[in-house]
Amino acid sequence: MTTENFISKNIQANFTTGSVSWQSPSNIALVKYWGKYGEQLPKNTSISFTLSNCHTKTKLHYTPSNTHKFEFEVYLDGQRAESFEPKILKFFERIEVYMPFLKQFKFRIETGNSFPHSSGIASSASGMSALALCLMSLERLTNSDITDEYFYAKASFLARLGSGSACRSIQGPLVVWGEHPVLPGSSQLIGTTLPFEIHDNFKDYCDTILLVDQGEKVVSSTVGHDLMHNHPFAEQRFNQANQNFEAILEVLKTGDFDKFISIVESEALSLHAMMMTSEPYFLLMKPNTLSIIHKIWEFRRETSSKICFTLDAGANVHVLYPNAEKEEVSRFIENELAVFCENGKYIHDVVGIGAKVLL
Ligand code: PMV
Repeated sequence: MTTENFISKNIQANFTTGSVSWQSPSNIALVKYWGKYGEQLPKNTSISFTLSNCHTKTKLHYTPSNTHKFEFEVYLDGQRAESFEPKILKFFERIEVYMPFLKQFKFRIETGNSFPHSSGIASSASGMSALALCLMSLERLTNSDITDEYFYAKASFLARLGSGSACRSIQGPLVVWGEHPVLPGSSQLIGTTLPFEIHDNFKDYCDTILLVDQGEKVVSSTVGHDLMHNHPFAEQRFNQANQNFEAILEVLKTGDFDKFISIVESEALSLHAMMMTSEPYFLLMKPNTLSIIHKIWEFRRETSSKICFTLDAGANVHVLYPNAEKEEVSRFIENELAVFCENGKYIHDVVGIGAKVLL
C-alpha cells in the first residue's frame, strides 16, 4: 500500500447539495505514539483501545461551488468557531492531493463533542476522524465503486493527516498504527485492526477518565512530537515502544493481566519521562496525578484488582479495568479518587467498536 492508492479516481462530476453525518470516538493508547517524521508518519508502532462514550458528532453540509478556493465554515455546538478554521484549512490543503474535488464544494462543518470542550480530553482524534469519514461519504457519492475496505482505509489515512492518532479512531476495539514486522498488514499510513481474536479478559475493558486538569494542554502535540527530534533518548524510546508493542500483542492473546498492567503503566510513564528530559523540559503531571497513581497502586496491593492507569500528554488519568470489576472500581473511584479531580469530575467510558454513520 502506498499513498498513490488513496488518490481519488473515477470522480463523476454530477455534484449536488446535501449533508452527511458521522459519530467518531476518541481512543486511548496502550503503547504510545510520540515522535513522527515525513508527512505524519510514526517513529514507532502504537496500539489503542477505541472508546465509545467520548466521541464527536460531525455533520458536513456540502454545496457545489466554482470559486476554485477552499470554502468552509466551522460551527461548534451551533456557534461559529473561527478559531478552528486555520487547522481545518491546513487539513484541506494537506489532503487535497487525495481528494482533488474539495475546491468544487462549499462546506458547512457542524461539530460537537460528547465531553465538555474544556475537559482536557483531546478532541483531535475523534474530531478529525469524524470529518475524514464525512469526506469519504462525500467521495462515495461521487464514486459508487468504492468498497467498504477502501472507504475505511482511506478515512483512516485522511484522519492521520489531520492528527496522527486520529487514524486509530475509525474502527475498534483495538487499533494498531505503524508497520511492525511481527504483524503482517500493519501500516505506517493507516490504522488496522488485529487479525486475531483477543482474549476474553480484554474484551469489555472500562476506562474512567479522571479530569485532574481541565485547562488547555501545557504542551501541544505538535510541540511535543517536535521535542523528539534531537532528543538524547529518542532512539531508545522508539525501540522500547516497538518491543512493548510486540509484548502486548502476546498479552492480548494470552490474557495476562499482570503483564498488561506493567506494559501499559510503563508506557505512560515513559511518555512523560521523554517530556521531562527534552530541551526545553516539561512536567505534565500535577500533584493530583501522582496522588491518584499512588492510590491505584495501593488499591492493587490491597485487593486482587487488575486496575491500572495510563496517561495522555497531560495531567488527566485514564483508569483501566476489566468490566468484571466495574462495581468495586467505581466505588473506589468515587470514594478515593474523585477528590483529586477538578470539581470532582470524571467520565466513565468503555471500549467500543468504532465510528458510525448518523442518519
Ligand atoms: O495525534 P497526536 O499528534 O495528537 O498525538 C497524540 C499522542 C498521544 O495521545 C500522547 C499518544 C497516542 O498514541 O495517542
